[in-house]
Amino acid sequence: MYVSRPQPLIAGNWKMNGVGASLGEAYMIAGGLGDTTARVAICPPATLVQRLAEVLADSAVLVGGQDCHAEEAGAFTGDVSAAQLADAGAALVILGHSERRAGHGETDELVARKVSAALRAGLEPIICVGETLDQRKGGQALAVVTGQVRGSLPAELADKRFSVAYEPVWAIGTGLTPTTPEIEEVHRAIRATLTSMFGAAGSGVAILYGGSVKPSNAAEILHADEVGGALVGGASLKAADFLGIIQAV
Ligand code: 13P
Repeated sequence: MYVSRPQPLIAGNWKMNGVGASLGEAYMIAGGLGDTTARVAICPPATLVQRLAEVLADSAVLVGGQDCHAEEAGAFTGDVSAAQLADAGAALVILGHSERRAGHGETDELVARKVSAALRAGLEPIICVGETLDQRKGGQALAVVTGQVRGSLPAELADKRFSVAYEPVWAIGTGLTPTTPEIEEVHRAIRATLTSMFGAAGSGVAILYGGSVKPSNAAEILHADEVGGALVGGASLKAADFLGIIQAV
């Protein structure tokens, strides 16, 4: 069982950005890690997973996918399985990102099946949750987020390493971030939900924050109560910015 205080995780989500020429940024990130105590991961588009894994083979930086199919294999044109990501060199996979929930109709139930598929392939899931602006304005943020945690995390995670990423939808790519007390309130609610679901093991899960994290706000966010790392979009595309965030751990 994984119970000790989690090692911070800083994961970059490149989304649908990057071609072969972008691998140079990853190379610079690997070379600039210094003596960070954080685990660092880059999740490129599926087309780059294998090449990135080759570039980072001798470094401490892990490679992750951004999604996987819930089934092991079959007639699912355009999809990628967890086993294929693992075979290409991924160690982690982001699941349930709000851009998948909104743009591809992913439900908690589907996300939970994808998490199970990832675990079967030996991948470490990063499971995303987060409320919309309307939900926050309506006072539903905590109910929405804890509901997503309960619905998207299958029981077999109990003895596995995984993280939960709190990404308020309204903070993604907007330059807006919640206040530190707002982040802490949601992270504490996620922690309480994890310990109620998984007992003591729930205290060992890193709870990441994501949404407009940049070098200038990273230190305050990363030192907030119950924040165990960051899931970084735009600022992970440039080595200098991503390294600035890693150095703020
Ligand atoms: P930004 O850091 O670009 O706001 O994106 C956050 C995100 O969605 C990471 O998964």
